[in-house]
Amino acid sequence: MASMGLVGMIAILVLGLVLPNFQVLGQFDTDQAMEQAKGVATGNGGPGVEAFNVLDYGAKADGKTPSSINFIRAFKAACNHPGKAMLVIPEGEFVVGSILLSGPCTCEAPLMVQVSGTVLPQGNTVTAEGAEWITFQSIDGLIVSGKGTFNGQGEKSWKPKCKGCSRQPASLKFIKVNDAIINGIHSLNAKGFHFMISICNNLRIDDVNITAPADSPNTDGIHMSKTNNVRISNSRIGTGDDCVGIIHGSTNITIENIDCGPGHGISIGSLGHYDSEADVFGITVRNCSFTDTDNGARIKTYKTDSPSKASGIIFEDLVMKHVKNPILIDQEYGKRGSSQHSKVSIQDVQFSNIRGTSASKVAVDLICSAAIPCKGISLKDINLQFEGTGQASIPFSSNCTNVKVSYSGIQNPPPCPP
Ligand SMILES: *[C@@H]1O[C@H](CO)[C@@H](O)[C@H](O)[C@H]1NC(C)=O
Ligand SMILES: *[C@@H]1O[C@H](CO)[C@@H](O)[C@H](O)[C@H]1NC(C)=O
Ligand SMILES: *[C@@H]1O[C@H](CO)[C@@H](O)[C@H](O)[C@H]1NC(C)=O
Ligand SMILES: *[C@@H]1O[C@H](CO)[C@@H](O)[C@H](O)[C@H]1NC(C)=O
Repeated sequence: MASMGLVGMIAILVLGLVLPNFQVLGQFDTDQAMEQAKGVATGNGGPGVEAFNVLDYGAKADGKTPSSINFIRAFKAACNHPGKAMLVIPEGEFVVGSILLSGPCTCEAPLMVQVSGTVLPQGNTVTAEGAEWITFQSIDGLIVSGKGTFNGQGEKSWKPKCKGCSRQPASLKFIKVNDAIINGIHSLNAKGFHFMISICNNLRIDDVNITAPADSPNTDGIHMSKTNNVRISNSRIGTGDDCVGIIHGSTNITIENIDCGPGHGISIGSLGHYDSEADVFGITVRNCSFTDTDNGARIKTYKTDSPSKASGIIFEDLVMKHVKNPILIDQEYGKRGSSQHSKVSIQDVQFSNIRGTSASKVAVDLICSAAIPCKGISLKDINLQFEGTGQASIPFSSNCTNVKVSYSGIQNPPPCPP
C-alpha cells in the first residue's frame, strides 16, 4: 500500500510537472486554428467547448447599460475554465468602458472569443493614461472571430491634428499575446489606432474590416511594434492614418491581399522615434491595392540620432489608384528643416511590379539619409501613370537622394540619372 501510494504520488508529481510542459511544447497549428476560427464565428468552437456568454454574467444588450464588469467576469471564467472555453459576445449592443482581459489563462488553448454583437464605448470616459479601450494581454493561444463590430465612436472625440496632444485610446490592443487568430470582425471609428499590437509572436489577422473617415486623426488601422511573425490578409482597411504601420522591433511580417484606402498607405515607420529601437526586418507587402491614399509603399524615419536598421523589405504586386506618393522612402520625416540626419540604416528593399496611377509628379521618391545612404534598393517593373493636375513644367519623375538604385524591367516614371 505504502509503495502504491508512493507510485501514485510520483505519478501525480510527474503528471503535474509534465502536463503544463506538454501545453507549452504543444505546437500551435495556425492553419488548423484558422479553420477553427471560422467555426467560432458561428458559435461552433468544436466538441467539448464550454460557452461563457456575457449575458449570463449580467451584461445587457441594450446599448446603454455599462457592462464592463460583466465582460471581465465572463472573460475570467472562460480563461480559468479547466477545458476548452469560448467567451461569447452575442448579438445586441453592449456598452463597455476601458477593460483589461488578461491571462495567463489556464483553459485549454486556444481561448476562443465569438463576437457577434456590437461593442460601444462607455460615454466619453477618458481612459487612464496609456490605457486603451479593450486590451487582451498575456494570452498564449487566442481566437477572436465573428461578424461583430467594435465601434469606438471616435467621431465624438476626434480633434484636428494638434502637436503635443496625447494619443487617444486604441480600440483593440494585443500585448504579450502569442499564437492568435483575429478573424472577420469589424473595427469602426476607433478613437486612436484600430488595432495595436505589441510584444506578440505568431499572429494571423484575416478578413477584417477597418473603417474610419479619411480625416480622422491618428487612426492607424493596424499598428505594430516589437512583434514577430504576423500575417495580415484578405482585409479592407480605410482610415485616417496608416492602413498598416510597422514600427520598431517588428520582424517577419507578411501583409497580403489588402485593400487600403483612404489612408496613409502601408508604412514601415516612423523609425528613429525612441532612444533604443530594435531593428525591423523581413517585411513583405504583396498583392495589395491602394485607393486615394496619401502613400502606397512607404518607409519613413525621423531625423534623430537613434540608430537602427530596417532591412529585408519587399513590396510587390501592388496596384495604386490615384495615390499621392506611390513609392516613398522618407528619411526626413518630421523636423524637415533640422540639420540632424537620420541614423536608421535602410538596406535591401525591393519594389517590384507596382502599377497604376500617381496623383503627384514625383511618383518615386527615395529620400535617404545623408548620414547613412540607403543600400541595396532595387526597382523592378514599375509602371505608373500620372493622373492629376500638376504643374506642366514638372516632369513625371523619380527623385533619388543619397541612394543608388538598381533598376530592372519597365520604369515609369523614368529612373533617376545614374
Ligand atoms: C466586411 O466588409 C465586407 C465587404 O464589404 C462585407 O461583406 C462584410 O460583411 C464585412 N464584415 C463585417 C464584419 O462588417
Ligand atoms: C524570422 O523568420 C525566419 C525564417 O522563418 C526565422 O529563421 C527567424 O528566426 C525569424 N525571426 C525571429 C526573430 O524569430
Ligand atoms: C490579390 O488580392 C485580392 C483581394 O485584394 C484577391 O481577390 C486575389 O485573389 C489576390 N490574388 C492573389 C494572387 O493572391
Ligand atoms: C529631391 O528631394 C530632395 C529632398 O526632399 C529635395 O531637396 C530635392 O529638391 C528633390 N529634387 C527634385 C529634383 O525634386
